[in-house]
Formats: sequence, structure tokens, C-alpha cells
Amino acid sequence: MNVRYERCSGSELFTADGRRILDFLSGYCVHNIGHNHPTVIAALREELEREGPAMVQTHVAESAGELAEKLCLRAGGRLTKVFFGSSGSEGVEAAIKFSRAHTGRPGLLYANGGFHGLTCGALSLMGDSFWRDGFGPLLPETEAIPFDDVDALERKLASKHFAAFIVEPIQSEAGVLVPTPEYFRAAQSLCRRYGTLLVLDEVQTGMYRTGPFLAVQRFGVDPDMVVMAKAMSGGLVPVSAVLMTDAIYDSVYGSLRRAIIHTSTFSENGLAMRAALATLEVLEAEKLGPRATEAGEKLRTRLHETLRGYEMVKAVRGEGLLLGVEFAAPRSLRLRIPFEAFMRIHPAMFGQIIVMRLFRDHGILTQICGNNFMVLKVAPPLVVTDGQIDEFVSAVEGVMELAHSSSAFWSEALGLARRAIHV
Ligand SMILES: Cc1ncc(COP(=O)(O)O)c(C=O)c1O
Repeated sequence: MNVRYERCSGSELFTADGRRILDFLSGYCVHNIGHNHPTVIAALREELEREGPAMVQTHVAESAGELAEKLCLRAGGRLTKVFFGSSGSEGVEAAIKFSRAHTGRPGLLYANGGFHGLTCGALSLMGDSFWRDGFGPLLPETEAIPFDDVDALERKLASKHFAAFIVEPIQSEAGVLVPTPEYFRAAQSLCRRYGTLLVLDEVQTGMYRTGPFLAVQRFGVDPDMVVMAKAMSGGLVPVSAVLMTDAIYDSVYGSLRRAIIHTSTFSENGLAMRAALATLEVLEAEKLGPRATEAGEKLRTRLHETLRGYEMVKAVRGEGLLLGVEFAAPRSLRLRIPFEAFMRIHPAMFGQIIVMRLFRDHGILTQICGNNFMVLKVAPPLVVTDGQIDEFVSAVEGVMELAHSSSAFWSEALGLARRAIHV
């Protein structure tokens, strides 16, 4: 899949050898407005050409104020202050420090299967040994509970040991898991009862990916902190944001002595702020939130109808344009033997062969979920057209048909898999 890309525009990627690839991954939810949107490029050019202040560090950057105000207005609730950074992990690190500073408690609670980033603090909120092995010791006092389990949450929170419960509103890399509608309301009232902050990781789900500005808005809760990144700046400049309440902000920066207690050199850099302001403008001018809802509904329904007859497809789920196709081990002996051979080589191998086939035979870029190898992630740019959705559905159908009917699919794939493992 490592091809040489020459030009990328909207949902399409063009390679040096003349192929056109349809992007249904969006750089893991970075390219909500499509690749290289002209409005963002123009804003960046203008920012460079005006020769304004960049990283002077001793004044209040106006564009940062403007962006912070816009993000908080859209997030709503009690979120009124923003700390900017350059990556999702950096945002999660800030959320960890800020929640400890605010509550005076050491503990951090997280949900199994979540993905929060690979710096030491963020990694401490991911239980899977696949990510952790060799990097310990990580932060102490972190504990995992099952996602979407209110009783497990209450049992932990009752100890009053936890500063924060850090969780994705829809777990992306866990397999695009949407919680029951009541979960977050219950989580919010338990967090308030026991004095723990509810911190939402919206790094993948924010910026209208699932329809609303933040995915948690569909659950009607008012979190204490929200971490955003990825799609914020149109895929062109690294940026992240931690939105928080006044009270949390004051616990960190509450005196002159502590005014620079948590900072980052590139935090409010002019290019990132300009790119993010232009990205917000595009998302709203092009009504990409409603588009995510409408196109997502169409894509989910079409995938469900097209794939439901295949025994290796278990479910199609998700919200807006954050969808997942879950595969299942086949029941019939004819398919079970090659499938199990795949699983013995590597648990991700079956999914990777599907991804490879989509790419090679149909020119479609996708990936399986990082913490659930049996789920194909479906996350095109929100500007995806109806025609591109049709193209994707028939490509997935073609690959599934081949996997269910052709022994050549399995023998070629087994050969490829063995070679890949032995390289
Ligand atoms: C939900 C979520 N949180 C945090 C992160 C970490 O973001 P970054 O890779 O920008 O550090 C990711 C990255 O994929 C993510 O998906």
C-alpha cells in the first residue's frame, strides 16, 4: 500500500503511476473537509504573506483567542477555556495534569479498548499490552473498566480516588463502538456525585465527523473537558485543543506564579490557528455536519443491505461518517479452514487482506481498527459524494463475494501473508 502519491484533492488521491485512489480512511479522521481544501490553503498563504507574529510567546495571540471562542461556542455547556497543543496525545497529557490539579486526586479511569495516544501519560490510559510492552513503567494509579458499563463505573468512582474518567464518546479504534444512549448521562451524574471529572476524547469524533460538532452532543451531556485534534486544521498543520471549564483552568493557572505552569512552544502558532479557523468556516459553509449525518445514514444502510447475506459479515454500525464493518469467523467448514489458518499467522491478517484487496483491486484506501482487527473502519472525508459512496459499497461487495466464493482468494492471500510475515 506504500505508493507514491503526487496530488490529493477532496476524497481522491492520485499516484505517480497514474492511479486514482478513493480515500475512505481520511488519515484516521483528519481529512473531514477533504484533502487540500482551497479555502484553508488560501488562509495559510495569507497568514504566511502577512508576516505577522508567530510564536513570539510573550503576548496574547488574537487568532488563538478567536479560535478558542469559536470552539467553546460550538461545544456549549460550561466549556469556556482552551489550551492548544500540537497533537491528540499532547491534549490527553494536558487533560491528565489538569484533572489532577483540579481535584487533588491521583487516579485516572479509562475504558477498555480506547485509543488515547502513545506518549507515556496517554499510553497509561490504554491497557493493551500490544501498545505498552517494553515502555514501562507507565503512570501509576490508572485503572480500566469496560466501556458502556455503568455499574463498573460506579464501583470505581465510589472510591473517590479518581481525578478523571477519560473516554471516547464513540470508541473508534476499539471497533467503532456506540454506547447505549443513556450511558453518558449516567456517567455524567456519577462523575459529579463522586467528584471525578468527565473528560471526553473527541480526537477522532469531533469536528462534525459523526454529525454534531462533538459526538457527545448526541447524548445530551455537559463534560468537564474535551480533547480535540486531527480534523481541526484541515489536515495541513498539526494542532490540538483541550476545552475546559473556568474552574479547571483556574486550578491550573490560578495565580501569577503559575501563569506559565503548563505551556508548549508551538501551542498557539499562527499557522495552526489560521488553518483551524478556515477549517471551521469550510465545515459550516459547506454544511458538512448535516452532510455527515445524511451520507452516513445512506452509507450504513447500503452496506447493511449489501453485506447482510455474507456469513463473514457480523454487523455494520456507527454514527455519521464514522462507521465500522465487523467481520466474523465463518461457520461453514469450507471457509473456516482457510480463515483459521489466517488467524494462526496473525490475528490482523484477515482484515489486512481485505484492506489490501480493496486497495489493489478497487483503488480504495481503508484500514482495520487499531484495537479490533476484525472491524474495517469506514471514514471517508465528509465531502464524499453519493457516487463515491456507491463505488465503495460495490467494491466492498466485490471483495466479500470473492472471499466467500473463490478458493483463489484464500490461496493467494495465504501466500502473501506468509511472505509478509517472513520478510
Ligand atoms: C481517539 C484518539 N485520541 C488520541 C489520539 C492521539 O492523537 P495523536 O496521534 O495526534 O497524538 C488518537 C490518535 O489516533 C485517537 O484516535
